[in-house]
Amino acid sequence: MSIETERPPASSPEFDLSYSIEDFIASDGRDSQYIYRAIEDTMVDLATEVPGGRVLDVACGTGKVSMRIAERGCFSVGAEASMEMIGLGRWVQPESMALMVRSIAEDLPFASDTFDRVICQGSLDHFVDGHAFMREAARIIKPDGRVVIALANFESVSCRLGRTIDRVKWKLGRPRPPWRRYWQTPEDHNVKGDLPYVKSLGGDRLELERCTGISLLWLLFGWKSVLGRLPEGAANRVLHALDGYARKRPGQADMMISVWRRPSPRK
Ligand SMILES: C[S@@+](CC[C@H](N)C(=O)[O-])C[C@H]1O[C@@H](n2cnc3c(N)ncnc32)[C@H](O)[C@@H]1O
Repeated sequence: MSIETERPPASSPEFDLSYSIEDFIASDGRDSQYIYRAIEDTMVDLATEVPGGRVLDVACGTGKVSMRIAERGCFSVGAEASMEMIGLGRWVQPESMALMVRSIAEDLPFASDTFDRVICQGSLDHFVDGHAFMREAARIIKPDGRVVIALANFESVSCRLGRTIDRVKWKLGRPRPPWRRYWQTPEDHNVKGDLPYVKSLGGDRLELERCTGISLLWLLFGWKSVLGRLPEGAANRVLHALDGYARKRPGQADMMISVWRRPSPRK
């Protein structure tokens, strides 16, 4: 008996220069609305810790986060491989002060020691070489700058429970659906995001300053409908309480946000 948990990549990874809005399907559940808002708010807060600082948002997609960062008075640049995503962002917010640059994360066209913050939200697992991106990020931050990475956790409590429930259902004779389940890494990801992978990212150029989790039980079977039946205030209180638990336990959380700095020089 084989249990499907991971799909090996069909061939060696290639740069994805043509990401499309069609590749992104947002669920409308309260759990999804909560996590998207919580990730974005946390990333914008961490990106704008230096008032008026220079911030680079790598693989920024349509640049929604870069644009919020610009609204807070920072010099905000979004780097993105796909022209479709850049074009969509410009179409949605033509007046934004954020600059958008077409480039790939593994070879960033910026001088060393340039940015106060380099951030990357939900994209590092799409890169051909996440470690090469981290080396670039370490190069282009200022000596006291930070790199902030948000990555989905495919070993979250929700993913582990999801796999277990799926296995039990299958053993009971329920057929498996042909589509990807949320706990399986998508085909356009080149690595499986989990806490050991996050901890490996710094190499010898960056050290982990802090790591926090965001949200618990996102996308778990039946959870969306339970939350949907609760009054809105009660649903938000439950989601907030679970989020509070997850903040201290990134290994169990749905999303992990890690903050990196250059190692302090040895005395
Ligand atoms: C899931 S989207 C996330 C977009 C955005 N950060 C957000 O949170 O909405 C992943 C993005 O990574 C971009 N991407 C994938 N590989 C890339 C690479 N090697 N360099 C730069 N961007 C890349 C894709 O074009 C896509 O816009």
